[in-house]
Amino acid sequence: DSMKRVFSGIQPTGTLHLGNYLGATESWVKLQDEYDTVLYSIVDLHSLTVPQDPTVLQQSILDMTAALLACGINPEKSILFQQSQVSEHTQLSWILTCMVRLPRLQHLHQWKVKSTQQKQDGMMGLLTYPVLQAADILAYKSTHVPVGEDQVQHMELVQDLAQGFNKKYGPFFPVPQSILTPMKKVKSLRDPSAKMSKSDPDKLATVRITDSPEEIVSKFRKAVTDFTSEVTYDPAKRAGVSNLVAIHAAVTGLSVEEVVYRSTGTDTAHYKRVVADAVIEKFAPIKSEIEKLKMDRDYLEKVLRTGSAKARELAYPVIQEVKKLVGI
Ligand code: ADP
Ligand code: NA
Repeated sequence: DSMKRVFSGIQPTGTLHLGNYLGATESWVKLQDEYDTVLYSIVDLHSLTVPQDPTVLQQSILDMTAALLACGINPEKSILFQQSQVSEHTQLSWILTCMVRLPRLQHLHQWKVKSTQQKQDGMMGLLTYPVLQAADILAYKSTHVPVGEDQVQHMELVQDLAQGFNKKYGPFFPVPQSILTPMKKVKSLRDPSAKMSKSDPDKLATVRITDSPEEIVSKFRKAVTDFTSEVTYDPAKRAGVSNLVAIHAAVTGLSVEEVVYRSTGTDTAHYKRVVADAVIEKFAPIKSEIEKLKMDRDYLEKVLRTGSAKARELAYPVIQEVKKLVGI
């Protein structure tokens, strides 16, 4: 069938931040109206690749659900669900694991980075999670996957696995395409050579969607810039200031040129306040919606239950077919 089907996932660990919002969630909201079937998964199984506190994890799943709903993910338009509630993901993951060679996974950039960062031999889940990602996508015969630049290599693995399966068992999976989000990486406020990330130990580096206005002002005030006080956009030479300009443009919907033009005569110290205020204004309605949703735990659980049931309805027949094709 020529159905256009979108799949994307987000880990529930940690609070949604400005990078996630501008790089993923905001475009997810738009895709809801552009594709036939849209699935967004809270990929809790992926969170288990690093140690988790069970009580915290359980709460984080509901918090992430609240955050996504508050950003505009609409359960009437898309299927919002919890990955672990649909066992087809792990079933397909095993079948695909049996079709991929060890060096293919060992050569993935993220494995190299993460396994050295962890200074240990490395948990198997950290090595094989890109196969689980492939299963997440292929369990729905997804055709389009919104991803950040950092996921391009993993998408190639998904495409290879789909093609490999089709070659062996006959045409079955569509080869999914990436939808690259227009937003380049939002950088860390403290080290503009790194991306803004949930897991950054420097608490000042990441602006969370639930931060208070005071926290946001303070984080931007301490953002790393340089010794030139003029506001210009030059990511190669002035990464810190350019990151502020990119954030400013993204949250206001203005172009980078327009933002720079309007900032003529403003020095970077004051400009930090301007950008902070724009972010506060953008997040204010989302933040209050999150607070409202978090008071209704039953509703959040119901959203995930209903979404997961819908997801299972789509994945079940696909996995039945896969099993038949592989002879089990
Ligand atoms: P994190 O790296 O902070 O843990 P995730 O890996 O859960 O975030 O990513 C969820 C989504 O957000 C992905 O689509 C990812 O590409 C996007 N994303 C994460 N960090 C950034 C960033 N700094 N800038 C833009 N997009 C980002
Ligand atoms: Na990540």
